[in-house]
Amino acid sequence: MAHRIAVIGGDGIGPEVTTEALKVVRAAGVAIDTTDFDLGGARYLRDGEVLSDATLEALRGFDAILLGAVGTPEVPPGVIERGLLLKMRFELDLYVNQRPFVGTAPGHSQPHDFVVIRENTEGPYVGEGGVLRKGTPHEVATQGSVNTRMGAERAIRYAFELATQRDGAKHVTLVHKTNVLTFAGDLWQRAFDAVAAEYPGIGTAYNHVDAACIYFVQDPHRYDVVVTDNLFGDILTDLGGAVSGGIGLASSANLNPARTGPSMFEPVHGSAPDIVGTGKANPTAAVLSAALMLDFLGESAAADRIRTACDEAGAGTTTEIGDRIAAAVAG
Ligand code: IPM
Ligand code: MN
Repeated sequence: MAHRIAVIGGDGIGPEVTTEALKVVRAAGVAIDTTDFDLGGARYLRDGEVLSDATLEALRGFDAILLGAVGTPEVPPGVIERGLLLKMRFELDLYVNQRPFVGTAPGHSQPHDFVVIRENTEGPYVGEGGVLRKGTPHEVATQGSVNTRMGAERAIRYAFELATQRDGAKHVTLVHKTNVLTFAGDLWQRAFDAVAAEYPGIGTAYNHVDAACIYFVQDPHRYDVVVTDNLFGDILTDLGGAVSGGIGLASSANLNPARTGPSMFEPVHGSAPDIVGTGKANPTAAVLSAALMLDFLGESAAADRIRTACDEAGAGTTTEIGDRIAAAVAG
């Protein structure tokens, strides 16, 4: 049976890199049946749709969603991000954002291999708060961070499960800011300690997020699985990409591990409207995101072959790199 994939190419370089990703999946011999969804900033400018409830219902019927990138400079910040990406993450309960980092950091001679599990449905992303007296000297803005025990715990539990399965050091690091965010940090720390007690074979550590930024650059080898909240995870994973060969290689999986609906797979990078159509976009992050999709769909052998081919892809234009990876996986 072919896997039914909803494809949201999106804006800017999104469609270009998604085309290469699908080419590679097919070359790897995985049967997929794709349906294109025209969503993103360009679609919004045309007829006002960001992600209607009807479209969301249609997406629920697929096995997975592959997304290129969304966002265009003509649309004000937040409209597409909140209305499309975050709506999918929240409504489809994609509570884990899994971002693997394999590469050799600047100044290091040995490659690192770690993965960040970013809680993906809570924190400051939920949109709690508001504004009063806007535009006056007395303006007040609040933006709360929502942390539920259930939400933190399920992300943490996923991280520990992953650590048991990975071929790594069997280790999970909690990253937070417990010395300042004493309410949220305490909830996370206690949830972490409780789950850790269920996994006596897994080592643990705690880093404050500012210190973690230093370690990501200076000592990334200390990490196996990192678990953190939504906003810290957003920032740390850009840094993770930067020390692992660049954002052109950074892939991500927005997972609903309970499988009550489709999961969504997207590169960490944005739509890069400045290079659209130039052939400069590196499709590797999109290809590696498709590999994460195949892992989740039970096609790990094909996913491993794709990852190996990406390691040897070299430089070139968008299609040259895609063609080379496709040729390598086709054997
Ligand atoms: C990411 C992106 C998104 C996020 C934006 C576009 C809403 O930066 O996936 O990391 O902040 O989560
Ligand atoms: Mn980000």
